[in-house]
Amino acid sequence: MKRICAGNWKMFKTATEARAYAQRFAELLPSIPEHVEIVLCPPFTALQAVRGVLAGTRVKLGAQNMYWESSGAFTGEISAPMLLDLGVEYVILGHSERRHYFGETDEDVRRKTAAALQAGLTPIVAVGESLGIRDAGTALEHVVAQTRAALAGLDATAVANVVLAYEPVWAIGTGRNCDAAEANTIMHAMRIAVDGLAGVPILYGGSMKPENVAHYAAQPDIDGGLVGGASLDPDSFARLAQGAA
Ligand code: 13P
Repeated sequence: MKRICAGNWKMFKTATEARAYAQRFAELLPSIPEHVEIVLCPPFTALQAVRGVLAGTRVKLGAQNMYWESSGAFTGEISAPMLLDLGVEYVILGHSERRHYFGETDEDVRRKTAAALQAGLTPIVAVGESLGIRDAGTALEHVVAQTRAALAGLDATAVANVVLAYEPVWAIGTGRNCDAAEANTIMHAMRIAVDGLAGVPILYGGSMKPENVAHYAAQPDIDGGLVGGASLDPDSFARLAQGAA
C-alpha cells in the first residue's frame, strides 16, 4: 500500500536554508522505504533550490498554494503553469491557515482544485474542523461539507487524482495531536459520505511527530501524513517517513 508523507514548511526557510536541508535529506533518503512517496512543500522562493539538489531523486516537489487563473494581472499570485515549469507535482490547497488568515472560502478552494487538476498538478486538499465545531459534535458534517465543496463539479476521473488531508485545526501546531483512532473514524466516514473517495489517499495532519506516526500508520483509512513542524528538520522528517511506512 502506497504511503504519502508530505512536509509543509509553511513560511519557514530561505532558499539558502532549503538547499542545506535538501542536501542532508538526500543523504537520509535511502533509509526511507520506497513505497513512501516523499513530498517537500517549501515556500515558493525555495522551490528552485530544493529542486536543484533533489532533481533525479524520488522526492516530489509541492507548493503550498496557487491561484486558479493561469496568467494575468493578479499581482503577487502564482499559477499552475509556473509551478509545473519548476518541476512541481503537488500543491496544498485550502490549508486552514489560508482559510483563516487569508480569507479563502470553499469556493476559492473549489476553483483552485479544479485549476490544479486541469493543469496536471495533484492537489492536496486540506479540510478540518475548529475546536468549537468539534465540541459541538459536528466535526464530520463540517469536513464532509468542506470536501464536497472543494470537489464540486469534478467527474470521477478527476476526483481520483486528488489527495485529501484531514487536519483538525485545533491539532495544528499545538502539540495536541488527534487520537489516531478518532481521526480514522472521521476519515472513514468522509470516504463513505463523499462520492469517489474510496480509492483517494487521505492524509492526517496536526502535530504528527516521529514519536506518534506509527499510531496513524496502523489505521486502515490513514494513508500518510501532512506534516508541519516535524518536517522542518531533515532528520526528524526522515524518521517520521520511516515510521509512516
Ligand atoms: P503541525 O505538524 O506543525 O501541527 O502542522 C500541521 C500542518 O498544518 C500541516 O499542513
